[in-house]
Amino acid sequence: MSRRFRALVVHEHPEALGELAELVGGIGLAVDTARNATEALNRIRGRVTAPDKLPSPPHVIIASHRPPAFDAVGFLESTITLAPEALRIALVSSPDEAIELDHRPASAGTIMRFVARPSERSLLVTLLGESVKLLGLVEDQRDLVRRLAGEQQRLVRRETLLDVVVRERTSELEESYLKLKAANRQALFGLAEAIEAKDPYTKGHCGRVAAYCLVLAKESGYPDDGLETLEFGAFLHDIGKIGIRDSVLLKPGPLDDAEWAHMREHPVKGYEIASKIEMLKPIMSAVRNHHERWDGTGYPDKLVAEEIPMAARLVAIADAYDAMATDRPYKKALAPDECDAMLRKAAKKMYDPDLIEIFVSRKLGDLFRDEYGGGDDPVID
Ligand SMILES: [Fe+2]
Repeated sequence: MSRRFRALVVHEHPEALGELAELVGGIGLAVDTARNATEALNRIRGRVTAPDKLPSPPHVIIASHRPPAFDAVGFLESTITLAPEALRIALVSSPDEAIELDHRPASAGTIMRFVARPSERSLLVTLLGESVKLLGLVEDQRDLVRRLAGEQQRLVRRETLLDVVVRERTSELEESYLKLKAANRQALFGLAEAIEAKDPYTKGHCGRVAAYCLVLAKESGYPDDGLETLEFGAFLHDIGKIGIRDSVLLKPGPLDDAEWAHMREHPVKGYEIASKIEMLKPIMSAVRNHHERWDGTGYPDKLVAEEIPMAARLVAIADAYDAMATDRPYKKALAPDECDAMLRKAAKKMYDPDLIEIFVSRKLGDLFRDEYGGGDDPVID
């Protein structure tokens, strides 16, 4: 039997003390003994240096009541502050004595039992047995609470640590994402500049198309989270011109039929480029379908009206407006009113009529005509 709990037994007669210690030890308690109050209190206080000194306050204190030589009740009351949680038992000589002691006022919070001896030793054994069980339950409950508290502390520490790690990683990821995004943007604009560098007459065209496109998109209720992609799409709508032969792209005079056919391949060539580059995939529709016409006579897919993706419809209008509003080698820029009149005329035939109405009625073309160096540089489509 494991002896988790300690008892202190106090009796003035060595023989009786031995018997009592044996009885208590038989119940499963580790037993310490003392022959008087001073010795017992010293043991509780841990002042005794003997090998059997108590390492902690006893769980049970049993004292034999023998007035006037030894007042066990008074002694037990004096142990309350030293061993507040102990079960205190006073042994008395007769039931009458027990009844008399029962009428003495006990200190608040003290557990006090009086057992007549020796005829009621069995009652003492039962009482101690139940006490040991109760002490075991209380101890188990404390262990559980301690373990739970420890576990909770570990969880809180782990959560705090995770929180710190997550915050650090999130911050690093956000920083990396912003750097990557900036690098992507730079790469995309670099690509647009590569197109413009191939054909000096298009300088500034891509930027203006993107600007017109964005303002028209905002005015027509285009979703905010799609504006950045739309800007890239507008900027790079002519990326397929990279695949057009210089002899055609840079030809100073009018193109013949075969040359036009080659030139009209640029939306599909652009689409093929965009579809192979992950960051260009979202803009594929703007690249492929910006030369479709509202009446279905455009290219390359001959889409009709609402079949044309919205991004491509927006780019088509921005592209056309900038072509009309800037000088070209073979014509001067048209005045704003003339541009608006031409757009209105072409609505329904070439462009989304609702978008044209918004663009013209709100004078959106006036916003960027002179920006991106548009007024000074000759431009061709
Ligand atoms: Fe184009």
